[in-house]
Amino acid sequence: MPRKNSFATCLCSLIALACCGVALRAAPQPLDVMPAPSQVRTGAGRAALADGFVFTLSDPADARLILATGRFQARWNARSGLSHPGNAAPSALQVKVQTTSRAPEYPTGSEDESYELHVSAKGVILSAATDLGALHGLETLLQLPRRDGGSWSLQECDILDRPRFAFRGLLIDVARHWQPADVIRRNVDAMAVVKLNVLHLHLTDDQGFRIESRTHPELQTQGSDGHFYTQAEMADLIRYAALRGIRVVPEFDVPGHTTSWVVSHPELASLPGPYAIERWWGVFNPVLDPTKEATYALLADVLGEMAALFPDRMFHIGGDENNGVQWNANPVIQAFIREHGLHDNPGLHAYFNKRLNAILEKAGKRMVGWDEIANPQLPTDIVIDSWRGTEAIASSTALGFDCLRANGFYIDLCYPAASHYLADPVPDPSKLTQSQLSHILGGEATMWGEWVSPETIDSRIWPRTAAIAERLWSPASVTDVSDMYRRLATVSLRLDEAGALHLRYRDGMLRHLVGANLGFPGSESLRTVVDLLEPVKQYRRGTLQIWSNQLVPLIGLADATLPESDLARHFSEDVEAAVFAGTRADSAALASLRERLKAWNAAAADIDGIADVYPGVREAIVPAAGLRATAAAGIEALDALAAGRTLEPERAKAARAALDGASADSPSAVIVPLVPPVRLLVAAASAQDRRAALAPQAWQDLVRTLALPEKPPTHSKHYN
Ligand code: ACM
Repeated sequence: MPRKNSFATCLCSLIALACCGVALRAAPQPLDVMPAPSQVRTGAGRAALADGFVFTLSDPADARLILATGRFQARWNARSGLSHPGNAAPSALQVKVQTTSRAPEYPTGSEDESYELHVSAKGVILSAATDLGALHGLETLLQLPRRDGGSWSLQECDILDRPRFAFRGLLIDVARHWQPADVIRRNVDAMAVVKLNVLHLHLTDDQGFRIESRTHPELQTQGSDGHFYTQAEMADLIRYAALRGIRVVPEFDVPGHTTSWVVSHPELASLPGPYAIERWWGVFNPVLDPTKEATYALLADVLGEMAALFPDRMFHIGGDENNGVQWNANPVIQAFIREHGLHDNPGLHAYFNKRLNAILEKAGKRMVGWDEIANPQLPTDIVIDSWRGTEAIASSTALGFDCLRANGFYIDLCYPAASHYLADPVPDPSKLTQSQLSHILGGEATMWGEWVSPETIDSRIWPRTAAIAERLWSPASVTDVSDMYRRLATVSLRLDEAGALHLRYRDGMLRHLVGANLGFPGSESLRTVVDLLEPVKQYRRGTLQIWSNQLVPLIGLADATLPESDLARHFSEDVEAAVFAGTRADSAALASLRERLKAWNAAAADIDGIADVYPGVREAIVPAAGLRATAAAGIEALDALAAGRTLEPERAKAARAALDGASADSPSAVIVPLVPPVRLLVAAASAQDRRAALAPQAWQDLVRTLALPEKPPTHSKHYN
């Protein structure tokens, strides 16, 4: 990798190009690349892209790169409509890919993933120390073309890029809801687009044992409902990921979360069985008995064969959420604790983990587990996957453990991309020592599986996980939320192009609601209403849809809605701009907000009639009524703001009551995300008479305070 003087060289070549002139010129624009590269210099010229790309590899036998350039061409052709076979096109843009070494067949996490990309009218030079870096450079290159009128071009640029963290993961829980291999493959393709490099498969939990054991086939036979990966299928999947520069880290969650294991091995549970596969969500009592040698014999067999199947050195053993109920209730276990001087259940858990670590060490593995396994009795070369928060990271790194951050990246909570974007694997650098900082390896988005099916999972992962990918790849200083959203919209299309189904799933979900095709009158209104709703946040869905479990299909209104409504977010941004800019809101901005609310109110008004014909749409009646009430309150506030009139106290009170009503829980488990921005409108309208006397910040503080709901929403506790 030519690191030396590279930036100076780039700048000189840009200046040289500018002097000799290039085919196209345009003012440099910000690049839409996501994750944002470490360093970018853009030139004024553009490289025309009439015929696509032709690749020349410095290592023409590098299978990873040959295959990657083939996929690149297919994706580019599908986007551009330019279908020339790359190597025959006379005026295609030449791309020289220069690598100095090949990473191992299965990446280890310690390879150099940096790359340099130099784009000029003469062609593209992509150089990298390893083919993994070159893969990342190809993904960046594929994000650069812009269409201007009928023609494509690339802006001249020099990019120097390298990851901030070596571990950039996505956890997919395939235990709660089964996710077949093709779901995993398409999400691996999407991971590569945004430079994520570790797929963490949560393979076992109370609700399923999802991989073939050859030493103990009864585990999958009795614990999976027939839904598990064969070892051959898993080996293929691991190779598929490795060809895309992605490691696969398996998780076998023990000693808790093991109901599916003890269905076939009740003798290894801490209380007598029988046991059946768990169908519900939560933290359950069954936990392996750590006092029995037979437990370790089974684990040695199963983890031993899995250690051979999964080439990665990291091996995740879960270790979270043992509620202690079974250990407390078993006198033999409590006696064992006393006799071995283990003091308490955490002491017993540490004993169990030490035994497990010995099994894994023998198999050449590095044990990874959730926060609960952090214990000074364990060797410091284990890794802590931190789901509990920044204090857990601080205490584990202080104990000398390497750490990953999962907390803040729980995409199953259905929070907006911005909230994940602003979480950082390094919580507060000023509060950690240099040594602690050096123990933070990166982080991972967690797609827990209680509320996702193969049909919906892409829409819960993407595009929000691209924001997390940026947090894990790009410099810590890259934190501009509105720029992130601007690029997220583009990368969402790139993810679709790579095979993710987060955009294409929508029609299927709407068809579930109506049980028919979508050509019926009013279908656009249904689409609009669904676009304006979001699933409830955190784990509230489980408390609202108490009948739902693993056997109930995920085909309802909440499944059809996206975790983050773009319509509502844009509306909210425009409200903030209108209410907080200047001394009086801009009338065109207010009119545009009003137009939108009027149209959405009309769409929501159609829902009752649609629900008369299509019973599946009845779920939308209450949220649609909430949407109408919200729109009405917003329109009234906007009219007052436009007229410079203060909303009368009793009208403001009525509007707030309507908005509280629209925020009330309903069994459809969706929210109306327009409520918070409309609260701002009502607050601003009700305080109009005080605006002129207040400085901008004081005005903003007043409006935000007045807009707070009477009772903040309550959240149920986390579990997984
Ligand atoms: C977890 O969420 N219990 C790791």
